[in-house]
Amino acid sequence: MVTGGLILNRRSFVLGAAASAVMVGARWDAAASAEHAYALEIRPGTARLLEDDSLQTGIWGFDGQVPGPVLRARQGQPLTVAVTNALEQPSSVHWHGLRIENSMDGVPGLTQDPIAPGETFTYRFTPPDAGTFWYHPHIRSWEQVARGLYGALVVEEDSAPDIDRDFVLVADDWRLGEDGAFDAESLGNLHDWAHAGRLGNILTVNAKAYERFEVTPGERVRLRLINTANARVMQFAVPGLRPWVVSHDGQPVAPYLVGSSGVELSPGQRTDLLVDVAGTSGDEIPIVELSTGDRLVAGYLVLSRKTPRPPRAFATPAALPASTVELPVAGNTQDVNLTMTGGAMRFLQSAVYKGETLDGRTLALEHSQAWAFNGIAGMSAKPLFTAARGTTVRLKLRNDTGWRHNIHLHGHHFVELSRRASADAGARPVTTDRADALQDTILLQADELSEVAFVADNPGKWMIHCHMLEHQASGMATWFEVA
Ligand code: C2O
Ligand code: CU
Repeated sequence: MVTGGLILNRRSFVLGAAASAVMVGARWDAAASAEHAYALEIRPGTARLLEDDSLQTGIWGFDGQVPGPVLRARQGQPLTVAVTNALEQPSSVHWHGLRIENSMDGVPGLTQDPIAPGETFTYRFTPPDAGTFWYHPHIRSWEQVARGLYGALVVEEDSAPDIDRDFVLVADDWRLGEDGAFDAESLGNLHDWAHAGRLGNILTVNAKAYERFEVTPGERVRLRLINTANARVMQFAVPGLRPWVVSHDGQPVAPYLVGSSGVELSPGQRTDLLVDVAGTSGDEIPIVELSTGDRLVAGYLVLSRKTPRPPRAFATPAALPASTVELPVAGNTQDVNLTMTGGAMRFLQSAVYKGETLDGRTLALEHSQAWAFNGIAGMSAKPLFTAARGTTVRLKLRNDTGWRHNIHLHGHHFVELSRRASADAGARPVTTDRADALQDTILLQADELSEVAFVADNPGKWMIHCHMLEHQASGMATWFEVA
């Protein structure tokens, strides 16, 4: 076992060359250097995830914690994260939603070699966008993320918005036994893989049964919600207050009020809420999760006894500073179809797997493959498409399965152009709250079609996959190249 002291030594050694900027552990000292530098170790640990906190769960975490430390960076300023893998299996880190250089994207087999046990890989990049992002391994993520390997990455705006407090809410569902033990036995079971994915039985925010956030009446509070679950779609609301949505997937949107069904977050998605705190000292205002039809309490805003702050004159918050993402334009457009097939009820007849055409039974029983994109299960040697840099790609997503899927694009953000059920005659404009949002992850219902578009402006090899991690592992993964 590695002891704390040894870890410290190893960290300073790894970062020795950049010693002036080195922080030991995951703390950020803005004064120390313009460059934000962290060292993280991927290793087993324990957490108290249940209300009964005498029960412990064995987890895997960044620095042995779940969630991993909140990493803070500043828009347009370099960030360095040295990641050491102390697991017995290879790992890597993907910076979900960040439009960074391809070699730092953290996808073993596509952009880097896996970080072998005992090795360190140093990620260096400059986040171009301010917002809420997250990090997680991109190898066996169906296991590594399920066990707790994830954390928030907050990129601060260049000029701070008018907000009094800023909280990160990392939401996850866990499959635990009565004794609090992590259910490892059911990891990788084909039933989950061919159905809705691994759904947990315990909801946590910041790995706590009931996380508490201390606030003062009159304050404007930013809640950065991140869904890190393998497969569960969540819906959050703060019924006692009037929260505004100000961003999706790390990109600002024109503020709108959260409706009665809450704000939906599919796995991998983020949303930032701004909420003006009203109430009396001592109040506990629940944050709830609604996707099951029940109101599950996910945490509380706890109103402190400090002197209330006078409320702001304008109830509607100002939009966050505009995004720098280049918006897709008509002309210079490349159309790409991505059709999803397979899964329980409509099993694959056959698909190409690693270059070979196999029947559905062989795919499932010998290779744990249950889904396909355009008739191909899993990563192929050749990209799905190649786009010349600067082209607008119009991606026609077609879900021909009986299940929801949650398509995530690496290195780029897209806008949704249209959506329809496959039974409908014509496409209709997007009428959801996210109509104008730039997103990196999008949820499609069974038998739905959606057209999304993005400017392929980031050179390299980028994945497209379902962020229901069991679906990703059992076929729903491909890639494209920006040349
Ligand atoms: Cu959040 Cu390809 O990953
Ligand atoms: Cu899926």
